[in-house]
Amino acid sequence: MEEMDFENRIVSTEFLQTDNDIENSLRPKEFGDYIGQEKVKENLSIYIQAARARGEALDHVLLYGPPGLGKTTLAGIIANEMGVNIRITSGPAIEKQGDLAALLTNLQEGDVLFIDEIHRLNRSVEEVLYPAMEDRALDIIIGKGPSARSIRLDLPNFTLVGATTRAGQLSAPLRDRFGVILRLELYNQNELATIVKRSAGILGIDIEEEGAMQIASRSRGTPRIANRLLKRSRDFAEVKYDGVITKEASNDALNRMEIDELGLDSIDRRLLTTMIKNYNGGPVGLETIAAAIGEEAVTIEDVYEPYLMQIGFLSRTPRGRCATVLAYKHLGFEQEGQQTLL
Ligand code: ADE
Repeated sequence: MEEMDFENRIVSTEFLQTDNDIENSLRPKEFGDYIGQEKVKENLSIYIQAARARGEALDHVLLYGPPGLGKTTLAGIIANEMGVNIRITSGPAIEKQGDLAALLTNLQEGDVLFIDEIHRLNRSVEEVLYPAMEDRALDIIIGKGPSARSIRLDLPNFTLVGATTRAGQLSAPLRDRFGVILRLELYNQNELATIVKRSAGILGIDIEEEGAMQIASRSRGTPRIANRLLKRSRDFAEVKYDGVITKEASNDALNRMEIDELGLDSIDRRLLTTMIKNYNGGPVGLETIAAAIGEEAVTIEDVYEPYLMQIGFLSRTPRGRCATVLAYKHLGFEQEGQQTLL
């Protein structure tokens, strides 16, 4: 039962189809309802107020950080606070230049175009985006061969909001065209507990403070996971605990789902255990770990490592990844061999 597809694990940060129902009803629509990310909120709301006062569209915004932290939600809030429409798409969904041209020409003055996973845009599409972002112009080529000519169409003033898990993977010309670049951080336990209580209120779920803290502490800093664990805990509460998510109810639910006190699931534990058992705790290269546990290197980097680093279980060094003393302790290994204190 160690083998579990990462896309389907309950602590996956990926957006799963089953998140659809609640994620939409739970999405905050304004800054006032958006918990955490204080610096991002403060700065963004100033940029928005200023743009509104000048009667201009907001500068293009790039949001980056691990999945599940609310990048799409923030894009929606930006549009809402600017009082404009939002069009939502993603890098892989825009296959041809014509797809992007169609999106751009359908925008109205001031609209937000949200492109999720913007690092996955293909190069030819990206080239259409440059003049669109910079000069609000669309260059299209008419005809073929020697008689082909290029004409320039004016676009409305619009705001591109791009989201990516990896700012480093964006091409420099694209990154340089964002006036505002903001990094989202993992949430702390109090923020997550507040989010869980807010979600419970909207969904009509009865939850005690300690139940919310329990879910928060095992959600790996990620609201998407917290909301998912809330739903599963509700099932346990309804069947076994008179419908109230008490500390005991959420504890029971989370233990049965094999999510430990820190929110690690079997894959996290396998990753760390492999490093410790096979590589003496490291340093070991990312590609080597990836091959050893049968996951892609980028998945490990984007999905697993951010949280393991945040809780101090893993460090990135120039010579490779290392499991720390805290990881050894948590997994019940004795510190041995030449493993030094990190
Ligand atoms: N749901 C997901 N992210 C949230 C946030 N930051 N605040 C409130 N609800 C959320």
